[in-house]
Amino acid sequence: MWHPTGPSPVMDRAPLRQPPALLSAPSRKPPAVSKLVAVDLFCGAGGLSYAFHRAGFHIAAAVERNADAAASYQKSFVDTYSPETKLLNHDVSSPQVTKALALRAKGATIDVVIGGPPCQDFSPATERTKREGHRANLVLEYFRILRLLDPQAFLFENVPGMLTAMRGKYWKFVVNEAQKLGYYICHDILRAERFGVPQRRNRLFVVGTKQSLGPLAFPIGTETPRTVMETIGHLCPLKAGEVGESDPMHRARSHRPKTVEYLATIPEGGAWRDAARVLKCHKDHNGHYDVYGRIKGDSIAPTITGGCTNPSKGRFIHPKQHRGLTVREAALLQTFPPDWIFCGGIESQSLQVGNAVPVKLGEALALTLKALLDPGPCCLSKPHELNPHTREMMPGLLQ
Ligand SMILES: C[S@@+](CC[C@H](N)C(=O)[O-])C[C@H]1O[C@@H](n2cnc3c(N)ncnc32)[C@H](O)[C@@H]1O
Repeated sequence: MWHPTGPSPVMDRAPLRQPPALLSAPSRKPPAVSKLVAVDLFCGAGGLSYAFHRAGFHIAAAVERNADAAASYQKSFVDTYSPETKLLNHDVSSPQVTKALALRAKGATIDVVIGGPPCQDFSPATERTKREGHRANLVLEYFRILRLLDPQAFLFENVPGMLTAMRGKYWKFVVNEAQKLGYYICHDILRAERFGVPQRRNRLFVVGTKQSLGPLAFPIGTETPRTVMETIGHLCPLKAGEVGESDPMHRARSHRPKTVEYLATIPEGGAWRDAARVLKCHKDHNGHYDVYGRIKGDSIAPTITGGCTNPSKGRFIHPKQHRGLTVREAALLQTFPPDWIFCGGIESQSLQVGNAVPVKLGEALALTLKALLDPGPCCLSKPHELNPHTREMMPGLLQ
């Protein structure tokens, strides 16, 4: 447990346009009581760290190699909510990270390690030949740090494809390593929409708990999400290439006038096949049904990926306006707070948003883990043995 040593600066930003409250206003002051301590590996722009912070954890350290993502994390999470978090802007395998984390572990107990190594190597979209790459080996790094910090529990997030990628090689590694280190492990594929996230997004979560704690029962989400328009409809309308006056994250990519005309012919819920004309590159093409897709405003969004602001990368056209989503719209669909700042250019910002664990989903998991580590009065969604939808989605995989 971590005991705060003194008052921490509380930093506030000028308020942006007032959106409907997706998340209740969080307290920016660290409570004076001792907290469970977490370390976030591969912290990105901070979706998972913020979720754990909201659940009452102190994030002692976080590791992120990418300079833009690290800058977002520093500005949006550390400076605003958690000034005592040490951000290590290095490669997780670097000696600086090993040294800094070893020092932290000496100074105070680390209760949980959280994080999701990059998942592109496990996505079906990645060609088989390119998969056995460097990124998949970051799973090994995750377990190297786990051995070093020896926490009571860990939470590992990835795409469901990790279970089967490379004939289950990495999944078997995860199970074997966790068992060797003395953890019970439980895994489930959770649907973000069941936790109030206005988005279809399935993610694999693996939770390891030391034998004395017993296994974790995953939360079952029962919340009904808002629709897309309920989530982003309050933002000011924009044309392609425009930026919202009070929010630099509410910026629409530029499209050529011909592209705007083309987008205008695609109906809500439709995609390139429904457009008034077929683009040259789509002729004689089968598949990629979502490319140049327009989101349905009265439904939930498709999975927000790293291409979320680019209509050529998926179903990312605004429901009513003839342009791709803005970074702010995509971030709200990921349940980030309405004033989260993402640094870098639009490609980099979009990637940070698409990579994140939706805050509401992360928070539900964090609360469940907290109840196991530090049982006390706390408000939880109903626990259950195994999410029944996992079986539907991955038949035969989970016994
Ligand atoms: C899936 S994203 C993490 C998202 C984060 N959990 C969130 O909720 O916002 C993975 C992150 O790992 C970072 N990363 C990739 N390779 C890394 C490495 N070798 N060392 C440290 N970070 C790395 C990427 O830049 C990316 O931001």
